[in-house]
Amino acid sequence: MDFEKYFMGRIRSVIDRYKIKGCIAMALSGGKDSMAAFHALTNFKFKLIPFYIDLGIEGYSEKCEKYAKEIATMLGYELHVVRLKDYGIDLSKEKKKCSVCGTAKRYLMNKFAFENGCNYIATGHNLSDAITFAFNNLASVNILNFRGMKPVLEGNENVRMVARFKPLFYLKDDECMKYVEMNKLPYCNEKCPYQKEAPTVELKKWIHELEEKRNGIMLNFAKSFEKIEERMEKKQEIRQCSICGYPSYGKICKFCRLREKHAKI
Ligand code: AMP
Ligand code: FES
Ligand code: ZN
Repeated sequence: MDFEKYFMGRIRSVIDRYKIKGCIAMALSGGKDSMAAFHALTNFKFKLIPFYIDLGIEGYSEKCEKYAKEIATMLGYELHVVRLKDYGIDLSKEKKKCSVCGTAKRYLMNKFAFENGCNYIATGHNLSDAITFAFNNLASVNILNFRGMKPVLEGNENVRMVARFKPLFYLKDDECMKYVEMNKLPYCNEKCPYQKEAPTVELKKWIHELEEKRNGIMLNFAKSFEKIEERMEKKQEIRQCSICGYPSYGKICKFCRLREKHAKI
């Protein structure tokens, strides 16, 4: 089968299965996957709003923003930019930068999508990332983190939580790369300077080697993990943060606690 047709077919299967429609906030990191997702989604009848979160990482964030801007312009969209520093948070002052960055990204993505009346947030997460993440959790006996093994995660209007959509959930790393190259899409090839040699690199390599020997094994892993998650799913009570009104597991959300901390630094 023609590669483009195969690629779009994988995305279409998620869209049809979950009946995705309406307005989508497209989260662009500047990396290859979100570029591919954005380009591919322009083939469907969605209202797309591309946005980029500037995390203020010196020498890195500016470059990523440039690429995100470039693809938006190329596809005829205006890029929206959200800046972490406007919330008084300075990542460079944090010890656990990646974890704080993750909290900030999740929060700001959701806030952006909610404020713009979007039905979904689309991200560039692909099959390779999902399987590696799951195996990494198994390897560190972190079963509670065994979440998000689905291409679409429901939202909850009561707590201002927008649904998440991973169009590339059934596509591997090399397939996303091939799509980007075939369509000559710009992307940032640099890694975040805070990202140390992650333990997941080895795992990812191993999973791909396995896939080469047993074609389709990754997809089967994904399907099994999805079923496991369905069975273990117990609804954790989620409520609104008493400060900002966005989703939180405690009285005050992680992001507001971060803001409070940085106001004192
Ligand atoms: P990561 O968490 O870096 O693996 O990125 C996963 C996905 O999150 C990307 O494919 C993007 O869709 C989104 N994302 C990551 N960083 C940003 C950012 N700075 N701004 C907007 N979206 C982002
Ligand atoms: Fe978040 Fe590097 S992109 S710490
Ligand atoms: Zn809050």
